[in-house]
Amino acid sequence: MPQPTPHPLTARWRSEFPGLERSVYMNTCSLGQLSRRSMDGMQRFQEQWLSYGASAWYELWLGEMADARARFARLINAQPHEIAILPSVGVALSVIGSSLHFSSPLRPFALQPARPEVVVTELDFPTIPYQWMARGEEGAELRLLASPDRVQVPLESFAQAIGPRTGLVATTHVLFTSGWVQDIAAISALAHAAGALCLVDGYQAAGQIPVDVVAAGVDVYISGGLKWLLGGPGIVFMYVREELIPQLHPTTTGWFAAKDMFKFNPERFEMAEDARRFEPGTPAVAAVYAANGGMAIIEEIGVQAIRARTAELDVDLIRRLRAAGLEPRIPADPARHAGIVMLPVENPPAVVTGLKERGIIIDYRPGALRLSPYFYNTEAENQALVDGIVEVVNG
Ligand SMILES: Cc1ncc(COP(=O)(O)O)c(C=O)c1O
Repeated sequence: MPQPTPHPLTARWRSEFPGLERSVYMNTCSLGQLSRRSMDGMQRFQEQWLSYGASAWYELWLGEMADARARFARLINAQPHEIAILPSVGVALSVIGSSLHFSSPLRPFALQPARPEVVVTELDFPTIPYQWMARGEEGAELRLLASPDRVQVPLESFAQAIGPRTGLVATTHVLFTSGWVQDIAAISALAHAAGALCLVDGYQAAGQIPVDVVAAGVDVYISGGLKWLLGGPGIVFMYVREELIPQLHPTTTGWFAAKDMFKFNPERFEMAEDARRFEPGTPAVAAVYAANGGMAIIEEIGVQAIRARTAELDVDLIRRLRAAGLEPRIPADPARHAGIVMLPVENPPAVVTGLKERGIIIDYRPGALRLSPYFYNTEAENQALVDGIVEVVNG
């Protein structure tokens, strides 16, 4: 049967991602596809390492890092000096966590007087609650909000939980097991009205939906290369609101955080005035090159266009699943749904393996398959995925 012509955006960009020829890839929410641009960047990094040696640092690599900060800043409407480069969300949270000094007088101004409570939800990526559980000894008290339907957490739950003892609301922009787009502006307003700070994990958001940290009014926003930014592992970006930076004194730190790191002064530690104060040490430079390749593509296409195309593919996939008699667990309102389609099945790992044998790559989380088409996928791939699921599930 002749294949329909792919959407122009998809048709234009598919050849940039050679991995799409090897499988039906529906797993961007775990790991975005590798682009030719990122491969070229990493090749350039290797050439520079070979020909410059250590001087590549001063002559080239610090500049590449500055590019990465600027690109990410543009994507979320921030300023480059508000962006720190870190290896993972876990490390970024550790650095911020170490700045809050729950049980010491060093607390940032925003958290005076003592506010031990951290509000998170049960649908946040577990790294978020783990961070504050691990800081129980330091005085952090976790408040875990429940979800009534495993899709979302009502805004009223935040409103009821946030109060005078709340120091921080730490939650997610797009939820990793439902694709629900939380109203981070409303959550941040609730936090601020109570005198608390608001941190958002945007790993499943930046790249695939528009992000405006100024309009949302959040204090900290973290995202990284792995998924929708098409930049691969080893790099995350952390935005810290300009006015907050001087109030935070992380104890998880190192020489990159020093105001003048190349002074190598062991007697005096003056912290950088910009977000570099949250960077403990040498980054994975290859990852910076890969991330710049991915973000260049996102910028060139434009996040609005990516959002429109991905939403179209989501709606198409949901329609095809339903037509096949399957029942995805998704947000009712498409405007609050982005990129991730959950499909409850009996034995998710077995279905994932069965699909892999058929050349279809997806993922699962407890109790459900996780499907995530991106702008480079086609409607024909959506159908191949649905047919594959039906075949595997029916044995
Ligand atoms: C929402 C979210 N946060 C964080 C992470 C990963 O965190 P880290 O960079 O610490 O591995 C993921 C997925 O890997 C995620 O989906």
